[in-house]
Amino acid sequence: MTQKMIEMSSRSRFTSKLAGVAAVAAVALGFAFSPSAPARAEGGEAHLKHVDWSFEGPFGTYDRSALRRGYKVYKEVCSTCHSMDLVHFRNLGEPGGPEFTTAEVKAIAAEYKVQDGPDQAGDMYERPGEGKDPFPSPYPNEEAAAASLGAAPPDLSLVVKAREGGADYVYSLLTSYQDAPADVHVPAGGHYNPVFAAGSGIIAMPQPISDGQVDYEDGTPNTLDQMAKDVTEFLMWAAEPKLEQRHRLGLQVAIYLIALAGILYFATRKVWSDQH
Ligand code: HEC
Repeated sequence: MTQKMIEMSSRSRFTSKLAGVAAVAAVALGFAFSPSAPARAEGGEAHLKHVDWSFEGPFGTYDRSALRRGYKVYKEVCSTCHSMDLVHFRNLGEPGGPEFTTAEVKAIAAEYKVQDGPDQAGDMYERPGEGKDPFPSPYPNEEAAAASLGAAPPDLSLVVKAREGGADYVYSLLTSYQDAPADVHVPAGGHYNPVFAAGSGIIAMPQPISDGQVDYEDGTPNTLDQMAKDVTEFLMWAAEPKLEQRHRLGLQVAIYLIALAGILYFATRKVWSDQH
């Protein structure tokens, strides 16, 4: 082999090594930044509205004020029908969430009555909620809820992740109540909402929020649109409370891999340059 050929073959081996490093880095990055919301639905997609959520993308974070307002909407409106079993009061004070202070969390929990017991006489009793308690359910069981509402309201802890379309779906559902077209029959106790593909546009939940319904203390306009966004962001946090930590880890892994690729690049160059 001529000197030139040796140079060329070692260079191409070097290039393929580098390509290998790049491929490994790309795969690892793919894992780190795996999408947090399920893919869009086929059926109701035509009616989905897309919101530019602050928590989207590899560096997305929650908006603390939106989470706090969203909690207020959840508490004053949604929690009268829906449970949220997987969220505990103390979660409201944890980093990456609404970050209420310890005193605020205590006060929020104490506004709820929680069943506890049995006491020494064997009786169940009620006490004010504490940080360790999950949000209490408004109904004793699904049957009771269904009997009074026409259908059982699903637990909201994971609903954003459980529906195709994720946060866009929940936001769109809350903002798409309208009069039914003339050819659609809406049975008693039903409401028309084209986003609710599962029920062919007929949903047992009446429109839960409308303009001005919940008082906001931070001066944000309390329009239907704003409240729907805020409560959806709150429910997204409930479903994925560690999103910010995950994104931060993803960033650290990316920096590490870029540094590693750089070191390997120079190491490989050094090794191959020593050969001739
Ligand atoms: C008056 C009771 C009531 C209130 C208040 C209420 N809901 Fe519902 N919700 C229901 C019922 C009942 C269903 C089940 C509907 C069905 O299956 O037809 C439901 C279903 C849902 C669903 C699931 C839809 C699906 O794709 O299956 C979501 C999401 C939801 N509600 C969110 C909310 C949010 C957010 C709020 C507060 C802003 C809220 N709800 C307030 C009764 C209520």
